[in-house]
Amino acid sequence: GKASREQFATRWAFIFAAIGSAVGLGNIWRFPYVAYENGGGAFIVPYLIALLTAGIPLLFFDYAIGHRFKGSPPLAFKRLSKWTESIGWWQVLICFVIGVYYAAIIAYAAMYTWFSFGERWGEDPEVFFFGEYLQVPEGVAPTLEFVPAVFWPMLAVWLILLVVLGAGVKKGIAMASLIGIPVLATMFIILVIVALFLPGAPEGLNALFTPNWSVLTDPQVWIAAYGQIFFSLSVGFGIMITYSSYLKRRTNLTGSGLMVGFSNSSFEVLAGIGVFSALGFMAQANGVAVADVVTNGIGLAFIAFPTIISQAPAGALIGVLFFGSLVFAGFTSLISILEVVVSAVKDKLGWSRVTTVTVVVGVAGIISLLLFSTTSGINVLDVTDAFANSFGIVGAALVAVVTVSWVLRRLDRMVSHLNAVSSFRVGWIYKALVAVVLPIVLAYIWISDVVLKATEGYGDLPAWFVGTFGWGMSIALVVVAVLLSLLPWSQKSALHSE
Ligand code: PHE
Ligand code: NA
Repeated sequence: GKASREQFATRWAFIFAAIGSAVGLGNIWRFPYVAYENGGGAFIVPYLIALLTAGIPLLFFDYAIGHRFKGSPPLAFKRLSKWTESIGWWQVLICFVIGVYYAAIIAYAAMYTWFSFGERWGEDPEVFFFGEYLQVPEGVAPTLEFVPAVFWPMLAVWLILLVVLGAGVKKGIAMASLIGIPVLATMFIILVIVALFLPGAPEGLNALFTPNWSVLTDPQVWIAAYGQIFFSLSVGFGIMITYSSYLKRRTNLTGSGLMVGFSNSSFEVLAGIGVFSALGFMAQANGVAVADVVTNGIGLAFIAFPTIISQAPAGALIGVLFFGSLVFAGFTSLISILEVVVSAVKDKLGWSRVTTVTVVVGVAGIISLLLFSTTSGINVLDVTDAFANSFGIVGAALVAVVTVSWVLRRLDRMVSHLNAVSSFRVGWIYKALVAVVLPIVLAYIWISDVVLKATEGYGDLPAWFVGTFGWGMSIALVVVAVLLSLLPWSQKSALHSE
């Protein structure tokens, strides 16, 4: 066609970009806690089984769709069948939502890298984080009062994203990962080594790795393992479809996927060692049990770690390495999330990359700043995150695998495509995993989560608030996805010209 699709220059550029997407905040602040809560050392069994029976197969599935149909999710699903474009838009909208709040967390981490010098949080990091830094108001209602120390770093994140995505697949996305991943790995390995030498580290590691084998019969532990794998690999909601659409015709897809899957998991285990060494130190320094200091997410990063940094020798170094790692890990993921949206809009409208990036990053950035750099941002973030991950990511993956395997019966052709280009061949086991195991696991996780949220609400937040930013947002994404699929493709679009 006249406007041929952008490409990664080498397979390594693709692998680094895919690792950049996969290795994110989830590796650092989610995996260690999930492993600890679900059997410690024994969690390795459900975790590896989830990786091999669901994570890697879904990764290959995304690669096959993106590479076979050479398009962003809406274009790839449109080429798959004229009825399925809306699945692609659903994935795109999920990425949009995740992108607008992910930028806020990266901004907090950037500020905390700076706060680590001189321990800006003082005596009580919790009071500092919610009160002084975020200035969280009494009620949950959204405000339009901007918090400068969140607004400015967020604006910087969006501007850098504008430059990186504007520079394109080779010079922007691939370059950012080829630089970012080695920097991240170096910082993180130094952090883990420093943490291992802290007093109390062995107790932390014992707490994480001591196996509790009795959990293996608990279905919740298996759900936790599959949930962690889906989230952690960035599979099932368009990112890997988009990245693999930028691969050359003959590319070893399965070999690359195995590399990405195992790199991501190695990074999770490494993070477990670093985080629990630091928590072991914190417990000892405060004369309490490790169990009393274990947290995850926001609490781990912005409350526990500041405490550790204040009490540890070489605290500022630990702070810079830890928060710097969050910034790099988060930013390479954010690039992949927004590229899904850019790629979809560009494909459908036939605009140039620069125009598309300006509009998409502009709109996303404004919404992101309005919702998340204001005093009320953190509660909105909490709810959107919970619903985007469960209702959105899991739901979209479920619909995609069921549609391809059962409704359209195209799984055989996907398998032939993978085998035609790859070194590691897949066969009937793979088909059984995608057509049977994945739908069952995804449906179970999706339904049990929806039932739980419907019956028990979410957190301590009022029903109207969860109704708006949780349920309302989730359902709106499905409706808007269908509407977008009804809009005609531009005559200049990739559908007509490639
Ligand atoms: N996979 C990333 C992680 O484990 C998170 C992520 C979520 C990346 C959504 C992209 C999109 O942290
Ligand atoms: Na990950």
